[in-house]
Amino acid sequence: MEIFATKIVQIKRLTKMPDIDQLYWEHRYKNAQTGWDIGYASPALTNYINQLESKNLRILIPGCGNAYEAEFLLENQFENITLIDIARPLVEQIEQKFAHSIAQNKLKVLHTDFFEHNGEYDLILEQTFFCAIPPQKRLGYAKKMHELLTPSGKLSGLLFDMPMLGEEPPFGGNRDEYRELFAPYFQIQTLEPCTNSIKPRAGRELFFVLRKT
Ligand SMILES: C[S@@+](CC[C@H](N)C(=O)[O-])C[C@H]1O[C@@H](n2cnc3c(N)ncnc32)[C@H](O)[C@@H]1O
Repeated sequence: MEIFATKIVQIKRLTKMPDIDQLYWEHRYKNAQTGWDIGYASPALTNYINQLESKNLRILIPGCGNAYEAEFLLENQFENITLIDIARPLVEQIEQKFAHSIAQNKLKVLHTDFFEHNGEYDLILEQTFFCAIPPQKRLGYAKKMHELLTPSGKLSGLLFDMPMLGEEPPFGGNRDEYRELFAPYFQIQTLEPCTNSIKPRAGRELFFVLRKT
């Protein structure tokens, strides 16, 4: 799928839809099939982060990949960041990358499945994680996000605004669908076409801010 990759992931398919699990993601990293990785924090997220006032916010980035947003947060003096990813080699790599901040207790890196994670956060940042999970887990995603946030905590970031497409990530969606999914758990403060998407994603992203209810 062009938004994510120029190469098509090569996984032997025993069933029609491959299991989108730890092995799947580790295979993608091992084979450098990481077309989602834009190499820097997306402008929509850096703009959002720039208007946050408290540097003490407990911030979670699930499905963090190379966690460019975390680099940006650290550069901007945020000091309570947790990163989660299910792909072990990636986690080992970012543990090295962020060793200094880990030693300073400003950042944690956890190798775990987001759906198994317990914690409490003021803010959770979304950047191509929602589109990476199998669509049947979307309700679980909304519920888990709600559970992980403090009262009035926020979930914010980017969602694709495009058809669902194939058997592998990225899985799309649209505004109506997202509204229906999140409205029972969150006050939808913003869910709008993103005006500062990176070029390959222009016109196909929504920027959102959801407040836990
Ligand atoms: C499409 S990539 C996005 C990475 C990063 N957010 C970015 O934008 O560059 C999805 C990431 O989510 C991770 N992931 C997928 N399912 C996960 C789960 N259930 N729990 C934690 N991480 C998961 C994958 O290993 C991968 O790093």
